[in-house]
Amino acid sequence: MADVATLSCARCSKPANLQCPKCVELKLPREDAAFCTQDCFKASWSSHKSVHLKAKQSNGTGNPENEGWEYCMKKGQGRTPKLPYFDWTGTLRPYPISSKRVVPAHIDLPDWAADGIPKEEPSSDLQRVVEIAREVLDAAARVIRPGVTTDEIDRVVHDATIAAGGYPSPLNYHFFPKSCCTSVNEVICHGIPDARKLEDGDIVNVDVTVYYKGVHGDLNDTYFVGNVDEESRRLVQCTYECLEKAISIVKPGVRFREVGEVINRHATMAGFSVVKSYCGHGIGELFHCAPNIPHYARNKAVGVMKAGQTFTIEPMINAGVWRDRMWPDGWTAVTADGKRSAQFEHTLLVTETGVEVLTARLPSSPKVYPWLDA
Ligand code: MF3
Ligand code: CO
Ligand code: CO
Repeated sequence: MADVATLSCARCSKPANLQCPKCVELKLPREDAAFCTQDCFKASWSSHKSVHLKAKQSNGTGNPENEGWEYCMKKGQGRTPKLPYFDWTGTLRPYPISSKRVVPAHIDLPDWAADGIPKEEPSSDLQRVVEIAREVLDAAARVIRPGVTTDEIDRVVHDATIAAGGYPSPLNYHFFPKSCCTSVNEVICHGIPDARKLEDGDIVNVDVTVYYKGVHGDLNDTYFVGNVDEESRRLVQCTYECLEKAISIVKPGVRFREVGEVINRHATMAGFSVVKSYCGHGIGELFHCAPNIPHYARNKAVGVMKAGQTFTIEPMINAGVWRDRMWPDGWTAVTADGKRSAQFEHTLLVTETGVEVLTARLPSSPKVYPWLDA
């Protein structure tokens, strides 16, 4: 038997006594499979494991009995001549699969044809659009201070969206005249950016939606302008927490009507009320689609969450009464009592195990919330 200690560690080149068990199983060259310690083996794993994959893909170089059997290498589900252990559900069993068929040169190839890896899946477009939307909102956040007009915020949003190759979804949506919504103080949502300068003590919500490669990404945050009174700071933090708590229950099987229970409980405990006229919504190829997701208690929302769904949750919480009124412009929704309203919004993806917050803050996002900057 050869002395494995004559080998050197694939990571640090020290004398190596350990062999990767998977490499041994695959009968791979011992030089690539040797490690000095478990630590070096573990540290190398993320790059080392690819040699197993490559070995399996080079059909014919491994076990000749496997010829014509292996397939779907990426998922490691190659069929082997020996029936593996599996609790077969019926009487059907796998049989040999013949080799890959030939595609003539004149056929247009999708991007996975050569290396097995799809690159332009709709999911990657969704990943990109939500990232753009987050970066656009963050750009808006960086210019917020007393004296800046909401029109200037809109210009930042518009230019940053275009620079990233996107379209600002609100622009001309049902004739909405601007590229984002800016909702100041008693404005609940859908405020139109205009020539008013932000004043010290205001709160302002900026709602950004970006359309990129056929999909929309939607999010908003409420910001403090200069020094804001204690009650408004409490309102904004409570609204932030309402969204966090709502997100925490999202997973397959949960009823959409539960979202409103969680939000209402947290808002009313703090002495605030929940807006009823505007809801979260399905989003993707459409800006607004099913499901409809109310934020208030005892709502009649239909349906349960399923893996793969994308929708927003965007609670609007009022310091006073829940009731809203509309300005004559047909867009600006305000509180009926003129007290302040705050909002936060994320685009979410339901996963097999729970939820992914697609529009989550990035490491580069400005640090504007004291409760997050511990
Ligand atoms: N972004 C908003 C939402 O969260 C919708 C704005 S529509 C507009 O659903 F026309 F007012 F821009
Ligand atoms: Co929305
Ligand atoms: Co929005």
